[in-house]
Amino acid sequence: MCMSANLNLTDDMPSTEFLETIIAGKPVQVTLDYINDRIKVRSNNPEDIDLLITYLNNLTLQNGFGKVILIARKEDWEKTLPFGYILEAVNSGYFQGDPAYFMAKFYSKERANRNSLILEDNILQSVLQHPLNPLPPRLPSGYVVREAVAEDVPQLVHLYEQIFTTYPSPITEPDYLQHLINKYTFKIILHAGKIVSAASAETDLKNMAAELTDCACRPEYQSQGLMSYLIFSLELDLIRRGFKNLFTICRSISTGINTIFRKQGYTYGGRLINNCSICGQFEDMNLWIKNPVNNLEYRTLPNHP
Ligand SMILES: CC(C)(COP(=O)(O)OP(=O)(O)OC[C@H]1O[C@@H](n2cnc3c(N)ncnc32)[C@H](O)[C@@H]1OP(=O)(O)O)[C@@H](O)C(=O)NCCC(=O)NCCS
Repeated sequence: MCMSANLNLTDDMPSTEFLETIIAGKPVQVTLDYINDRIKVRSNNPEDIDLLITYLNNLTLQNGFGKVILIARKEDWEKTLPFGYILEAVNSGYFQGDPAYFMAKFYSKERANRNSLILEDNILQSVLQHPLNPLPPRLPSGYVVREAVAEDVPQLVHLYEQIFTTYPSPITEPDYLQHLINKYTFKIILHAGKIVSAASAETDLKNMAAELTDCACRPEYQSQGLMSYLIFSLELDLIRRGFKNLFTICRSISTGINTIFRKQGYTYGGRLINNCSICGQFEDMNLWIKNPVNNLEYRTLPNHP
């Protein structure tokens, strides 16, 4: 087993560590996510699922994590059920068009508690009533959209500090933000030279899947359609680059962010219980998916920034 990376570049305590181990002759990458008190792994080999689960169980107990998330394939998700895993969500096209099954096992009563179930169900039902956007979102006049660059990092730190008291990744650390800007697509909207909204797409080149994330809009600029436009602008880039599966994992209690994805044609894929630590507590997250491979709507649009 080897430790290969540590994303928290400033503190002694890492926020995330990646372990690479060999199970029955095949490499497996495991993410130890200290901020969110969880372990995350993707299954690569359906034959070895029993060995993988035994390994994860030992690792979880040794380190005291509260939740394991195993992203399983159609060949192996059912094999995880006898080990106490439950199916939380399905991303219909994640593995190069094949579904990904979000299997979860909880290691404490508190972590497994579904305290907000009824409230979140009511929010979901009201979000699902919204009709889809009949036309692509438009950027209101006076605003500019572009990709973030290194010089934007201080303003982005300020934006995320203003919006989130805590966040599932070290998004307010300049080195981490710089890493995101270098590695992924990070877009911002500016008004009078000031960043007022931001979102990113974390891309998985092996599966040609992309997670839309890090969505934030300054309170005084909200409800003007800025985030809807930013998501649309990221989508256009991703689709033109050949990404076949777009998804987001967003706060189940936020009507606004769920509405944005619903209205832009995403399909609800399930809820991840106490999935990550955000704004000071563990929160449930909804999965929304779009598989735009044959989406003519996007091919016929004029160029957008
Ligand atoms: C969620 C957030 C990013 C939305 O940004 P925004 O620029 O205000 O979003 P938009 O203006 O594009 O809103 C899109 C739609 O959602 C609706 N909406 C937005 N906020 C809403 C709210 N709080 N309640 C109900 N509907 C809401 C809008 O009415 C709009 O629908 P419409 O087109 O029919 O008018 C912003 O509110 C925010 O930064 N929130 C705090 C951070 C956060 O929770 N981020 C999500 C992390 S998963």
